[in-house]
Amino acid sequence: RPTFLSGIQPSGRPHLGNYFGAIRQHVDSLNEPGDHFFFIADYHALTTIRDAASLRTNVRDIAATYFALGMDPARASFFRQSDVPEVTEISWLLATCTGMGLLERAHSYKDKIANGIKPSVGLFTYPVLMAADILAYDSTVVPVGKDQVQHVEMTQDMATHFNTRFGEVFVRPEARLPVRDDMAKVPGLDGQKMSKSYGNDVWLFESGKPLKKAIGRISTDSREPSEPKNPDELVLVDFLKLFLGDEELQDWRARILAGGESAPGYGHLKVRLAEAMDEHFAAPRAKYEELMGDPAELDRMLLKGAEKARERAVKVLDRARMACGLR
Ligand code: TYM
Repeated sequence: RPTFLSGIQPSGRPHLGNYFGAIRQHVDSLNEPGDHFFFIADYHALTTIRDAASLRTNVRDIAATYFALGMDPARASFFRQSDVPEVTEISWLLATCTGMGLLERAHSYKDKIANGIKPSVGLFTYPVLMAADILAYDSTVVPVGKDQVQHVEMTQDMATHFNTRFGEVFVRPEARLPVRDDMAKVPGLDGQKMSKSYGNDVWLFESGKPLKKAIGRISTDSREPSEPKNPDELVLVDFLKLFLGDEELQDWRARILAGGESAPGYGHLKVRLAEAMDEHFAAPRAKYEELMGDPAELDRMLLKGAEKARERAVKVLDRARMACGLR
């Protein structure tokens, strides 16, 4: 029986990359038999957020977003990472079996250093805590976007190192990517990977004027609409792909490719994109607004979600403590 698990950092409002790469997969996985654990990685977010009020707001924001998008507390444990403190102890046990070299090879760490961030020890050992998150629940399937695959592979390595030393304690997990490649790595407004840290992201519930403004920032060039273009080169088309049905998308592509009189200008495509996105999220956006109006209820739902998760983590931690001689 598979165990699905994944997490998201409450480091700001979730964006379209989080939605297509992760949240949607998480909600869809509820239709597959197995146990389901999804959590808000607040311990991880402390590596970037240093303000208690923002962290609390962000956690509720993510919770309301997930519930609005169909996360069902009756079928999944949806909880806050820090409500299962056992993971921090597991992370210590794993740290003692993990070579510095493994962590030094982490892309996301190297990217942050390259961008001039002065790393804390916590940022460096981030993948060990993430491995603990995954291994604490005997997870077998970890649905994530492409940028997290290396972290799941590192988790496999850490589990193997621990098991080789102390016996079969941890279960080996596998990453699962969205089937569509453009959803596994959603582009940002500038065509690079969408990411909060690049400032090229769009909040998934953005609407109205701010949405038009955001979409206005999608990179284009100064070519005339009548000039034939390869639609595959346009970031704008990558965005449209995420929201339009196949038939409509093929029609736009053909007209862009052909150029001439009936070819759409970039402005025209942007209007259509704003409309399609607004519509796609209309119902969950309303639900989200409603849920955000009752923070106490969100907190209560998260605590309830942690109960089953914690039960499982306590068992796994016990097994690990026994194996390495702590008991
Ligand atoms: P985070 O919070 O950066 O992102 C949450 C999820 O969104 C996916 N994602 C994307 N997918 C497609 N295109 C994009 N542009 C894009 N940007 C982000 C991420 O791949 C991720 O699935 N370390 C994790 C949180 C975490 C975790 C875990 C995940 C902590 N413990 C255990 C899985 C299992 C992170 O920072 O994700």
